[in-house]
Amino acid sequence: MAKRPATDVFHDWALNGKDEGMEIGHAFAVNQMLSFIFEKTEQMQRNFSAVDVGCGNGWVVRLLNEHQRCEYAEGIDGAAAMIEKAKNIDQNGNYFLCKLPEYQSSRKFDVIHSMEFLYYLKNPQNMLKVFCEQWLNSGGWAVIGVDHYLEHKASLDWPEHVGVEMTTLSIDQWLEAWKGAGFTNIKHWQAGRENPVTLIIAGQKPS
Ligand SMILES: C[S@@+](CC[C@H](N)C(=O)[O-])C[C@H]1O[C@@H](n2cnc3c(N)ncnc32)[C@H](O)[C@@H]1O
Repeated sequence: MAKRPATDVFHDWALNGKDEGMEIGHAFAVNQMLSFIFEKTEQMQRNFSAVDVGCGNGWVVRLLNEHQRCEYAEGIDGAAAMIEKAKNIDQNGNYFLCKLPEYQSSRKFDVIHSMEFLYYLKNPQNMLKVFCEQWLNSGGWAVIGVDHYLEHKASLDWPEHVGVEMTTLSIDQWLEAWKGAGFTNIKHWQAGRENPVTLIIAGQKPS
């Protein structure tokens, strides 16, 4: 199948209502990611700011905003129909149409959350470096989930199936990328209802 930009494919998915299926499918892993984030922000003993990168229809931004200590949350995505949908659902929310890696954030955050976005980039290793060096406040956390990686065999035909380029890394290569990006206290685990599906990696920007 000919490959299209991921943001074009997900624009169509939003128009066809497939964002809602993703929300349901990703909820199991995202709940674990949010529990981890809320545990870490609780330890900070202060309010926090957060960004969801590749936010789709913005459902995780709305969950972040529900937390009593969340003082600011925003979502960014490169698919116009996803951002339009997010804004329709939540008119007071902060949702921005931005393509990565070109977009540069003018804000810094205590938390970066991202689910099922990073491997759509040609160089996710460099994006992690930018997240650590430029987007996070000192001591802040990035928590990122990916379902397409070498050990998740069922995901290996997705580039052909979905018709989108994906960067396929092994768990060790992902962990190396996080280390090379400058993160410390790196933790990883696999989440799934029955089998391990989502590789979740979390890391902290040194203080
Ligand atoms: C698999 S969806 C996940 C959406 C959301 N995180 C969720 O769990 O429902 C991937 C999202 O990443 C966005 N995306 C992919 N490549 C992108 C890029 N280069 N810049 C910005 N957004 C991108 C897509 O538009 C899409 O909404």
